[in-house]
Amino acid sequence: MRTFFQVLFLLNAAWTLARGDADVSCQLGQSCTLPCSFPAGDETVIHWIQMTSPEKPAHSFYYNTDQLQRQHQGFRGRTSLFQEQISRGNASLLLSGVRVEDEGRYRCYSSVLAGNHESFINLKAYALVQDVHIQHSGKEIICSSDGIYPKPTLTWTPHQTDSNTSFTQTEQKLYSITSSVPSSDSRESQDVICTVSTPANSRTAVLKPTVQQNISGTEASISCPAVTDATFLIWRFNHSEEIVRGKAGGPHSPPEKWKKHIVESSSEKLTLKHLQPSLTGIYTCEIRNDTGTFIRSSDVLIIEDDNNNNKTTVIIIGVTVAVLVLVAAAIALSIWFKKNKKQKNRKEGMI
Ligand SMILES: *[C@@H]1O[C@H](CO)[C@@H](O)[C@H](O)[C@H]1NC(C)=O
Ligand SMILES: *[C@@H]1O[C@H](CO)[C@@H](O)[C@H](O)[C@H]1NC(C)=O
Ligand SMILES: *[C@@H]1O[C@H](CO)[C@@H](O)[C@H](O)[C@H]1NC(C)=O
Ligand SMILES: *[C@@H]1O[C@H](CO)[C@@H](O)[C@H](O)[C@H]1NC(C)=O
Ligand SMILES: *[C@@H]1O[C@H](CO)[C@@H](O)[C@H](O)[C@H]1NC(C)=O
Repeated sequence: MRTFFQVLFLLNAAWTLARGDADVSCQLGQSCTLPCSFPAGDETVIHWIQMTSPEKPAHSFYYNTDQLQRQHQGFRGRTSLFQEQISRGNASLLLSGVRVEDEGRYRCYSSVLAGNHESFINLKAYALVQDVHIQHSGKEIICSSDGIYPKPTLTWTPHQTDSNTSFTQTEQKLYSITSSVPSSDSRESQDVICTVSTPANSRTAVLKPTVQQNISGTEASISCPAVTDATFLIWRFNHSEEIVRGKAGGPHSPPEKWKKHIVESSSEKLTLKHLQPSLTGIYTCEIRNDTGTFIRSSDVLIIEDDNNNNKTTVIIIGVTVAVLVLVAAAIALSIWFKKNKKQKNRKEGMI
């Protein structure tokens, strides 16, 4: 007899599996609707149960009201039904503040006078891959991202056989991923792309080769990699010091030290004025769009402004010319005076 029921149970389980539970993807921390509908009728009873072992009652409804006495404490304050829709056969459950523990199979049981009904859904939780960081660090290139669920994968392009990837997980079960590859001349001279993916989404970080730039004069621009639909930008000096951070369209409020040097900061370029050799260093532009992050460093050498020397030369030449003109004028004047005097003498003599 027992075996008979077991077989029935197995058959039932196989039937539900074959039928295929509906998958519902829920973003961690957000609200999510677990759909369920039933043939509407009188004296509605609804039970939502998470099919863990032991089972966890998530939400119940009967006698025309929510019944939360037996609700598992993990669901406390996070569940509700669409009350006004129940009479229309809608037993969907709204679950807020979704957690990783909410993952798994749920049974939606409903009964009315005319009979009962059940359906199953499979809840999958996710946290999107957001910013992916890539940077040179000593003799390595390091790529990292965090706050991800489920466990992400990371790929390097071009493919790297000597990468070292590790994961950590927070108490909330969110994954952090870090991968490093040794840097080499060939890697320094081409784009290195790191892609972090989950079934829900993927984002990339692109590290562009460093460019050399020598600038002089009073004003000059350092350019960013070309990025379509840029949303965010950061400019850094010597890797650690932030010059500008903000939305691609601005406005930006740089620190006082840099404000006096910035003519313009955009997702295309950084224009600096009052250039001086102490501003020599590495300028890194980090731009983000919806695909990922794009980073390029410019190794900028600021050459002593020889405009100043030119100015001095101009001044020296100017002064010299002025002196020469004055001397010439003085000579001309004295000649004229002498002539005039002679003439006068002659005239006087004639009288
Ligand atoms: C139930 O009602 C909610 C709220 O109006 C709606 O979002 C959902 O799609 C409905 N579900 C079904 C199965 O009708
Ligand atoms: C990989 O990284 C881990 C931690 O950063 C380190 O302990 C390990 O030695 C590295 N392995 C290789 C092969 O580089
Ligand atoms: C910049 O100047 C340095 C030293 O004067 C020189 O070695 C380098 O080739 C120059 N780079 C460019 C791009 O002009
Ligand atoms: C982000 O920029 C890259 C490089 O320009 C481009 O290939 C990609 O399509 C852009 N993504 C979006 C969403 O605009
Ligand atoms: C920035 O880095 C360059 C070399 O990369 C160094 O010569 C310069 O002194 C640094 N500047 C500051 C202000 O730290």
